[in-house]
Order: sequence, then structure tokens, then C-alpha cells
Amino acid sequence: MYKKLFEFYVTKTEPEKAHKLALQLIKNPFLLRNPFSNKDYKNLNQKILNMDFKNPVGLAAGFDKNAEVYNEIGKLGFGFSEIGTVTPESQYGNNKPRVFRLLEDKALINRLGFPNDGMIEIKSRMNKNSPKGICGVNIGPNKDNAKDVNDYVLCFDQFCKIASYITINISSPNTPGLRQQHKDENITKLIDELHIRRSERSSNVPILFKVSPDINDEEIDSLCRIFLDKRVDGLILTNTSISKKESLTSANRIEEGGLSGPPIENLSNLLIKKFYTRLNAKIPIIGAGGVGDGKSAFDKIKSGASLIQLYTSLVYEGPFVANKINRELSSILKLNGIENISDAIGIDCN
Ligand SMILES: Cc1cc2nc3c(=O)[nH]c(=O)nc-3n(C[C@H](O)[C@H](O)[C@H](O)COP(=O)(O)O)c2cc1C
Repeated sequence: MYKKLFEFYVTKTEPEKAHKLALQLIKNPFLLRNPFSNKDYKNLNQKILNMDFKNPVGLAAGFDKNAEVYNEIGKLGFGFSEIGTVTPESQYGNNKPRVFRLLEDKALINRLGFPNDGMIEIKSRMNKNSPKGICGVNIGPNKDNAKDVNDYVLCFDQFCKIASYITINISSPNTPGLRQQHKDENITKLIDELHIRRSERSSNVPILFKVSPDINDEEIDSLCRIFLDKRVDGLILTNTSISKKESLTSANRIEEGGLSGPPIENLSNLLIKKFYTRLNAKIPIIGAGGVGDGKSAFDKIKSGASLIQLYTSLVYEGPFVANKINRELSSILKLNGIENISDAIGIDCN
């Protein structure tokens, strides 16, 4: 019965309507009074960025754009969540339709363009409902300010005292010019300004940078040099991809936007390995892209990720997915004789 209902929901409901409905369901305390178990697996506990993570499975940015469910998703088994992307002013984003399911590939293409309620409204929502668990805030510029550092600084100011960490989104493909922030002089300026602002605000909130999967080896080399030199706290690898669409089977593969889910898994793992190796394991990485079960989570950890995030598999697998991943990951570690998840980080890179 549950399976049939869920199948109908995934295949027939318009994606953005389905997303709204999912947020309503997650907010409903009655529905969350289980059957979703939320077990604590000791071998998944670890300390990263000076925070105690109960498990490594996080909700990726984009699902809880407006800070509506960050305190509820812990009950679904997630170890942490990330709000946003939040911009200074509220904005509608691109014209609809702008989210497309690729059912045969279990993937999504989106060109949302950061629709959100804006930093003031979102911050006030968070103030009224303080985060109970680890909760990052992902920030970015309004549509016409992508080349500007100022929008990031404005958002940083709003959230530096309430977020567990701040993610600097330089990698969404749907804000024209945003990915230019990967260029040496731009990223250097962005890091410097944010680090200065952080000390001016007497804050020690970790600042993470979320990187595009569509970059070449030369760009990876220079980014690693800059990230090490500037002592960046952490990275999120990766955002959605604008490549890799030829090999897909779904008719919607022709849609413009960022691809997510299993088709970007290997691309994201490869990037994680390259960054982990070039950074000499000195900067923690949160891996995202195609995680949907214990094996895919383990592969990301072995590639060099300390934590993982997911979005697309929540759409296809439903609300049990984080619990399933934790259960499977915990067993995989035991089967491989690995005492704690932290001992598995980057073992494929040795
Ligand atoms: C519908 C949708 C909206 C997204 N919105 C954002 C966003 O606002 N900011 C961001 O940094 N990433 C966003 N992402 C990217 C995800 O956070 C994640 O990096 C990417 O989807 C890869 O993970 P996945 O394969 O588990 O979905 C979005 C992804 C999807 C599918």
C-alpha cells in the first residue's frame, strides 16, 4: 500500500508540487511518530569540524531552501541538514517548469535558480525555532549579482551566529556567471573577504565551499593550492553537473539545468579522490552526488569524504533512505573489519 502510494507520488505528481507535499508531511508530528526508526550506530559517530556527528548522512542544500523542516529531518535518520541556498533578497527563480524527473535514470535535472524567501525572512524563521541539531546554511548571490562578493558577505552576517557552518555556493549552474567564482582571483578575494568578516564578527563558524563537478585537473590543482594556502575549513563536493547527459535514457535528458542522482556519482567520486589526495587529507570533504544506499555512501567515504549529503535519492527512495543508508553502512564497516567510519575515509586513495 505504502509502496503503491509512493510510486504514484513519484511518477505522477508534478515535481515541485510533490516537493511541497513532502515538506508538509515532514512537518506533521503525527506522521513522524515513526515507523521511521532512528537508531544510534556507534561506529558511525565521529567528530568533524569540531562537531559531534551521530552519523555521516546529511540532507543536501535545495530540499529545505526556506528553513521549514531542519528540526524534523533528524527524525528521519539524518545526522545533519543544510538550509538554502539563501540569497539576500527573496526571489522567484526561473520560470516553471524547472524541475524534471528522469525516471529511468533515477535522476533529476533542475534549473530552479535559487527561489527562496530571502535572508531576513529565513533568519527570523530560524530565530523562532532554533536548530536542535547540526544545521548548515548555504548562501549565494541574487540573480544579477553573481560576480559580486557583497551578497555573500550580507548573508554571512545574518547567519554566522545561528548556523553550525556556512556553505558558500559558487557552483549552482542556474545562476548566470556564478561558476566564475572558481577562478583564482575571484575565489581568493571571496575567501579573504569572508575570513575578514568572520573575525570582525568574532565568529568561529566553519566556512565551507561547494564546488562544481564540471572542472578540469588544472582548475582542481589551483583550487587546492588556494584552499590550503587560505586554510579553508571544508569543502562540499559536488553540486549538480551540466555534463554527462548523453549517456542518459530518459526523454527529459534534453532539459537544461543541473543533473543529480546516480548519473553523477562516479564524476563526483573522482573529484573527491583528486581533492582528497591533492589536499593531503588536510581539509574535510562532504561528498554529494548519487548517494542512495550503504554501498554508495561507503564509496564516497573511501574516496575521501568525511560526511555525505543527498537529495535525489530522497525523491526516489522516500523518507526511509537515510535510515537505510546508516543501517547498511554500519554493517558494511563491520563486515570489512573497520571499527569506526573515520578509519575508512580516503582508503581508496592510498
Ligand atoms: C531540485 C534540486 C535543488 C537543488 N538546490 C540546490 C541549492 O539551492 N543549493 C545548492 O548548493 N545545491 C542545490 N542542489 C544540489 C544538491 O545539494 C546536491 O549537491 C546535488 O543534487 C547532488 O546530490 P544528489 O545526487 O544526492 O542529489 C539542488 C539539487 C536538486 C536536485
